[in-house]
This record gives sequence, structure tokens and C-alpha cells, in this order.
Amino acid sequence: MQCTMPTERIPCDPRHPSPEALAKAASLLRSGQLVAFPTETVYGLGAPAFDATAVARIFTAKRRPPNNPLIVHIAETDWIERVAVDIPPMAYRLVEAFFPGPLTLILRKHPQVPANVTAGGTTVGVRLPAHPIAQGLIQAVGVPLAAPSANRFTEVSPTTADHVLKSLGGRIAAVLDGGPCSVGIESAVLDMTTTPPTLWRAGILAQTTLEAVAGCRFQSPSGAATAPSPGQFPRHYAPRARIELLPFGDRVRIEERLAVYQAQGCRPGAMVLSDVTAGVGTVIIYLPQDVAAYARRLYAAFHELDAQLVDVIVVEQVPEGTAWDGLRDRLRRAAAPPPVDISEETP
Ligand code: TXA
Ligand code: MG
Repeated sequence: MQCTMPTERIPCDPRHPSPEALAKAASLLRSGQLVAFPTETVYGLGAPAFDATAVARIFTAKRRPPNNPLIVHIAETDWIERVAVDIPPMAYRLVEAFFPGPLTLILRKHPQVPANVTAGGTTVGVRLPAHPIAQGLIQAVGVPLAAPSANRFTEVSPTTADHVLKSLGGRIAAVLDGGPCSVGIESAVLDMTTTPPTLWRAGILAQTTLEAVAGCRFQSPSGAATAPSPGQFPRHYAPRARIELLPFGDRVRIEERLAVYQAQGCRPGAMVLSDVTAGVGTVIIYLPQDVAAYARRLYAAFHELDAQLVDVIVVEQVPEGTAWDGLRDRLRRAAAPPPVDISEETP
């Protein structure tokens, strides 16, 4: 499909979304067009979840392989029964504690959810976002919204409307501009259909925090007996420049590597927590030592370094500790070598 539609930016106050802005976006969605909207994690690209034709447009706009299922976003906790069946008590405990919030639960799919939302599978990802614009929009449409992150496949997720427009401008009808996202990395994805549950993707909610409410330890993706979550490609969440990941606190090695790249005539960038210095021509971004503040800043930093056209980014790994798991995971994925052929990675 050739897509060159103008993408409208609809300004919207993140705390008190205007009913007019939400109604405009909702009417586009109801007519089957795609609208990006802010959630507390990252911007999502929405389509009404029960409209298979509109959902198919998401895959086209993102150039996402059809075997990668979408998360269904609901506006109220009891909507969960509109999209899932056989919901175990443990899932309800997690819903009670963490919805709305940055957690996606994988459950048995309700028959009315179209097959392309779940990539033909029997399970569905469900999330209730905490962002007032996301909640207001879903309420205004009146049905759950299927929404992946609003970026082209394998690119860095957007945390501002500008990021969305850079990646998908001309390919979607509109973006609700609610400013920067407060969490900054994608939700934790927890599969409740395995025993014990599998944490497919770590998020800002620490695994131990989730386990305390679930009342059991989770298995990691590598230990899971089932097929991997289709979205967990090794290289994902990656900027254009190659990434070299170096240990936390190893200031000397980071400075050495930056000097080597400069000597080779490259334009290096750096994303560090330590007090690193480097020669003129190196773009250094200092990231905060606080987990939440780091997450909020991470993807914007990738987007900025891409805009500065650096050839390589030397990244200081985050510290030890489960609180940093989601961030360590994103950095590891961003640093994975690019696949020769994306389709070969698909399980
Ligand atoms: O924070 C978020 O989760 C954002 C916002 C917009 O809600 N969404 C997001 O969607 O990151 P996406 O599509 O970029 O990532 C969803 C991940 C993918 O890795 C996908 O494979 C996995 O969740 N997923 C979705 N449904 C699944 C299912 N039924 N079984 C296993 N994995 C699933
Ligand atoms: Mg994504």
C-alpha cells in the first residue's frame, strides 16, 4: 500500500484532555483510520481491536510481520472479560494491584478478538494504560484498542509525538500530542498462560514486585517450555547507529573506546552514567542514576543521537540489581547485531 496521507497533530493536554480532541481522534478511529496516542510508557498506534480490517492497517503502516501479536488496550478493569476468557485468580490479583499501569498480561483469547490481533494464536495481551489521554480515547471509541508502539518495526519506540511523526508521518491519520511519556520504556509483558508465569519482557515494575503479588516466582523466557513471545527478536528497540555496550562504572575503558573511534575518523556518541570526558566531536549524553528518570530519558537519547548522525554509540551498561532489569534488557537488545534477514529470526 502506497501511503502518503498528511498526518495531523492533535494537541491535547495530558492531564485534562479536551473532549473535542478526544472526539476527533475517536471519530478517525471509528472510521477505520490509524491514530497514535500517548500512554504512560510509550506512544501507541491504535485501531479498534474488533475491527480486523483496521488492525491489518497497523501491520502495513509499521511494516510489522503479521506473526507478531498486538496488545489490546482497555479503559476499565472489567473490560478484560471482553477480550479474554479463563482468567486465573492470580491474574485478577495482578490486575487489582497494577492496573492501570505499565503491565501487560497474556491471557486466553476471547473468540471475538480477531485472529490478526493475536497473530493467529490462542492468547491475547491485555493492558489498561494509566495515561488520561489513552483512557479518555478508549472510552470515547467505546471499544478496546489494539496498539503496538507507534514506530516502524525494529525502530526505537516513540516517547514524544515528534518521534511518532518522524517514523510514521505520512502513513497514519493523526497523532494525539500529549507531550513526553512519563515512564519511557514499554510495559512488562507477563504470560499468565504458562505455569509458572513467564516474564517475556521486563518493564519498569520490578520482577520481584510483581512476584510478591502473584505469590510465585516467574520463569524467564530462556527457561520457558513454550515457544518464545514472537516480539522478542534479539535486535529490537535499536537506534540506527551501532551500539557498543561497556560495563557500568568502567570510565577508563569508555574513554579509551571513544578515543579509538575518533582516531579512526568516526563520529562517536556516548550514553553514560559515569563522569566520562571525551574529545571535541564526540556527542556525550549523561543519563540520570535514578531508574525512573533514566527510563524516561533513554529513548529520547537514542533519537537525539540518531538525529546527530553519529556512527557508533558507546553505551555504559546500567548497574546491577532487579530494579534495572527492564533497562538492561533494552540496552542488550539495542546492541544486538543487525539481522541479515528479519524474517529468518521469526520463530
Ligand atoms: O507499553 C507498551 O506495552 C506499549 C504501549 C503502546 O502500550 N506497547 C508495546 O507494544 O510496546 P509492542 O507491540 O511494541 O510490543 C508488544 C510485545 C511484543 O513483544 C509482542 O510480541 C508481545 O508484546 N505480545 C503481544 N501479544 C502477545 C501474546 N499474545 N503472546 C506473547 N507475546 C505477546
Ligand atoms: Mg514495539
